[in-house]
Amino acid sequence: MISKKAFGQLKTGQKIKAFTLENELGMKAVILNYGGIIKELWVPDEKDILGNVVLGYEHIEAYEENPAYLGAMIGPSAGRIEGGILPIENTIYKLEQNSGDHTLHGGSKGFHNRVMDDTFYEDKNSFKLELDFKIMDLVDGLPGDRTVKITYTLMKNRNELSLTMEASTNKNTYMNITNHSYFNLSGIEKEDVLNHEMRINADAFGSVDTDMIPRKGWTLLNNTPFDFRQVKTIKSVLETSYNQITNNQGIDHPFRLNKSKSDAKHNNAAILWDPITKRKMTVLTSYPHIVIYTGNFLNEADVSTNEDMIKHQGICFEAQEVPNAPRSNPDTCQILKAGQHYSHTIIYSFEVEK
Ligand code: BGC
Repeated sequence: MISKKAFGQLKTGQKIKAFTLENELGMKAVILNYGGIIKELWVPDEKDILGNVVLGYEHIEAYEENPAYLGAMIGPSAGRIEGGILPIENTIYKLEQNSGDHTLHGGSKGFHNRVMDDTFYEDKNSFKLELDFKIMDLVDGLPGDRTVKITYTLMKNRNELSLTMEASTNKNTYMNITNHSYFNLSGIEKEDVLNHEMRINADAFGSVDTDMIPRKGWTLLNNTPFDFRQVKTIKSVLETSYNQITNNQGIDHPFRLNKSKSDAKHNNAAILWDPITKRKMTVLTSYPHIVIYTGNFLNEADVSTNEDMIKHQGICFEAQEVPNAPRSNPDTCQILKAGQHYSHTIIYSFEVEK
């Protein structure tokens, strides 16, 4: 079923709604039409007890601040853009520098702050919520009158939520959309994810500089602590003295995904497993890369409603194109051309595995 209720109002007076999508297996997603935020995601554990596996706030005021982008849709430029300078073909666009000298997650006019229109319905196999909005030419520094639609699909017969991100533009532009949910499969508040186990289906990762900007090129994972091709705990990697970990207080890196042989559309990107509750999440995506962020600065992300988080309380699986590509990889960077259709999918699938 799908239901909606009021979720307070922004400082501008705009009223925000919370939509609940719930299947008969007990899985439940609560999504806001502000920032497309996934506020709650309830899934069963081995005893069939439901737990909320994403970090979220109770108050709209906290979401209006949201310094760590909890649950939010991120765009048009996920991750950092070096120096806030983004070249598209032969033109340089200057973006807001909201993170030191750089642009982080689209700046203050990014998707995470947008109020979106909603449509919801049910079909044979799923419950669907569509959130859409328009961005006018240059309001966020980037060219094009753009139309964006995010479709959230909760399957009826399995515990799976998928996000499809679509966009179009009337001028050539840059588009790299992701979701910034922090997962913690324990379902327990104020506990870190260090004992969770993770697998990433990647042979290479992108190293980052001390400002967390990905550098050009890829490093093979062989003989680095980032080799998550075999399952290991997050703690075992964070405890190493590898400079890519110590420089950034944890993992905050893009991984280059291996192509799935069995599914032409989606890469089997990553698996997260909690040994206590036995909840397991599989992330699949049409994107070629995923940024893994272990909540390294969550303890600094205080909000005025005192709904504060602890370091490493959740982990983000930000499937996307590699961040900063317009700067570091201009030759291969994907440009969304006028009239083209942008479409990508991220799937979060849940099971119990003993
Ligand atoms: C980035 C981090 C950043 C965080 C903000 C992540 O996606 O990779 O570097 O601090 O977002 O919450």
